[in-house]
Formats: sequence, structure tokens, C-alpha cells
Amino acid sequence: MAFAYRNGLLCAEDVPLDQIARAHGTPCYVYSRAAIERAYGEYAAALAGRNALVCFSVKSNSNLAVLALLARLGAGFDIVSGGELARVLAAGGDARRTLFSGVGKSESEIAQAIEAGILCLNLESEAELERVAAVAARIGRQAPIAFRVNPDVDAKTHPYISTGLKQNKFGVAHEDAERLYRRAASLPAVEVVGIGCHIGSQLTDAAPLVEATSRIVALAKRVEKAGIRLAHIDLGGGIGIRYHEESTQPIGRIVGAMLERVDLRAAMLILDPGRSIVGNAGVLLTRVEYLKPGATKNFVVVDAAMNDLMRPSLYDAWHEVRPVRASEAPAQAPRYDIVGPVCESSDVLAKDRALSVQAGDLLAIMSAGAYGMTMSSNYNSRPRIAEVMVDGARAHLVRRRETIESLYALESVPDW
Ligand code: LLP
Repeated sequence: MAFAYRNGLLCAEDVPLDQIARAHGTPCYVYSRAAIERAYGEYAAALAGRNALVCFSVKSNSNLAVLALLARLGAGFDIVSGGELARVLAAGGDARRTLFSGVGKSESEIAQAIEAGILCLNLESEAELERVAAVAARIGRQAPIAFRVNPDVDAKTHPYISTGLKQNKFGVAHEDAERLYRRAASLPAVEVVGIGCHIGSQLTDAAPLVEATSRIVALAKRVEKAGIRLAHIDLGGGIGIRYHEESTQPIGRIVGAMLERVDLRAAMLILDPGRSIVGNAGVLLTRVEYLKPGATKNFVVVDAAMNDLMRPSLYDAWHEVRPVRASEAPAQAPRYDIVGPVCESSDVLAKDRALSVQAGDLLAIMSAGAYGMTMSSNYNSRPRIAEVMVDGARAHLVRRRETIESLYALESVPDW
């Protein structure tokens, strides 16, 4: 367990979280190196002996230390912007092991990716194919491409993070795919290298992933019959984690079930997980500022807010809240909403939790390693918070807390 109580104190690996709060202040994100390595290792073990690549989805956690750690373990990357590509390269990642996804790639991002030697541009529309071909021709290069195909499978997850249905903006329609592959094969400036899909995120049931795999494999076979060779098949990310009472299955079992449907021996298999690698490897450490008992509701006001962790206000997501100093909430303990200082009623990190707390106590918002820091903002002119990576008994500051001055450093007042 990366985060467990020792001598009554919640620790990240061997470091008590109160020590991190003293050294680096609150709020801050705390990650466990061992937990990231363990989760990556589950993928590596499940894919052992196969021609396969795990492309970590950078949008889930883009801290350079996280990316560098995964690059050293042999991971490739899944990116959605020129900014993410720059981060991957700055962290020592390899463009030749990096996939570029997303519906809105700009001309300069496309050129930047081709010039960096990207493994593949995952195309999501016919218009994008034409743009990529034009950009590649202009810079005198061939662009490696795949289509992200929408398999029209219901991932049965939150509608905001379900992406594989016909009504979603993502991917090209299943029925258009063969025509688009033929068109791509006719364009000299593009080289067809693969096929991909991604049906959604936080999937706790293997069935939709297995179903999507079957559909993509069947389609890949039809494309190959048309004489177009596919060097890889990318089955996306999406495997869920346990936040609350979800019954999750081990990564190895889900990947194993998907692999049973892949009988294209020649093709390299790619997965692009994010959350299942970093989600449970991070916590948001926060301090109680005030207790605010009320007639109908009690509030714990903490120093972290919705701008630091958007998931609860955006998706009504549930994150466990643990006191850093172990305390059993007695049966009669008051129930609190944990709220932040931001001026929005939706600035709630957790609802209706039984806690025995006092002002000054430290709390850990659990399972915050994925889509925490990467979705944070400066709303209410709050500097983005520090990030700390624990490695055994050592805690490394891997992102300094932003300064107030940096918040308006790029702004100017006109000379009226
Ligand atoms: N591949 C593609 C093409 C994706 O769009 C995504 C995530 C992933 C891989 C990684 O999915 P994962 O393994 O992390 O489920 N902000 C939301 C999640 C948005 C996911 C977007 N796409 C949240 O906080 O729950």
C-alpha cells in the first residue's frame, strides 16, 4: 500500500504526510513512485512476450518527474497537444513511441509532431486527414497515421467521460473507416501505420473494452484485406480504479480478456492508460482552516479547492477523505461537507462525510493522482499548488508552488 497509516500517521511510502506539509506547505499533491511503478508493472506483466507498447496518457498527469519515471520504465506516451509533446521530450520521452490523439490538432502541432518523429497521428476526421497530408507535403515528410475509430460501444461510464458512442465528438464512424483508409492509402504524403479506438474512461467492467476490441480487430482485418497493412492496433485507455465502492478487476485480467480477442499476430498492440497508472498513486494533502457548523449542514473549510481538484464539482466524483492523524470517527461524529475557499457553491471536495476533525488538522483527499493537477486552474487567483514525489524515505519537490506574481506576470495595462 503506497498510502497507509504507520504509528497513527498516514504516510506516503515511508514518509508521514505531516512531514511533507511542514516541508512544502499545503495544499499539495503527493505522489508515490512505487505505486506508479507497480501499476505500470501490471501492464508490462500482462503484455509480456507480446509485441506491445504502453503509451501513458499524459493528460492524466503531466508532471515531468512522472513522465521521466515512466519513460525510464519503457513507456511510450499518448498526447493531445503540442504542449504535451514538449513535456514528453523535456522528460526524456521518445517521440517515436508517442501517439498524438485529439480532434483539433492545429497545423503547427501537426508539423511539430511530424518533425519530432512521432510514432503516429491518430486522426479523428476526414478533414484532419486532408490537413495532415497537406502539412506533410509542405514540409517534405510523410506523416504516419491511424484512424481513431468510434466502435459505437456503450462504455457505461459518466457521460462526460464516455467517448465511444455515435453521438460523441470523438473518432471516425465505424462505417466510414474503410473508405477513409482507402483515401489515406492513396495520399503519398501519409503512411498508414495503424488503427485505434478509445471508448471512455473509468471503466470498471471489462465487457465494453472486450467488445470494442472485437470490433476493431474485425475492422482491421477488413482494412488489411483491402491491401492496407496495419503495423499497430491501439485499444485505448480507460481501465478504471477504485475510488469508493467500485468493484474493479485487476489490470492483468482485463488486459488478458482483451488480448484473447486480438488474433492479428503481426500487429504491435498499443494501450494508452492514464488513470489506472497514476490515479491511486497520488493524494491531495490539505489543511483544515475552519469548522463551520450549521443548522442543516456542517462544513469543513479546507485550504484546497475546486480549482486544485475539479473532479468532484465537475463530475460529482467521489474521493475518499482520510485524516492524516488516524482517528476513528465515533458513531455520533458530525457529518461534514468538505469545501474550499473558492466563491462557488459547487466548490465541494467531498459531501456528507463523518469525520472527527479540528481546525489545523491535515486531511488527504485520496485517489487524486490522475486528472488532479492537470485539470487545475488559477481561478480566484489561486497559485497552482506544489507537487511532491515520494520515493521510499525521500520526498522530492517536483513542482514548486506558483508565486502570486507569476499569476499576472504576462499581463499588462494599456497605456491609455
Ligand atoms: N486515450 C485517449 C484517446 C483518451 O482520450 C484518454 C482519456 C485516455 C487514453 C486515457 O484514459 P484513462 O486510462 O485515463 O481512462 N477528466 C476525466 C477523464 C477524461 C479522460 C479523457 N480521455 C476525469 O477526471 O475522470
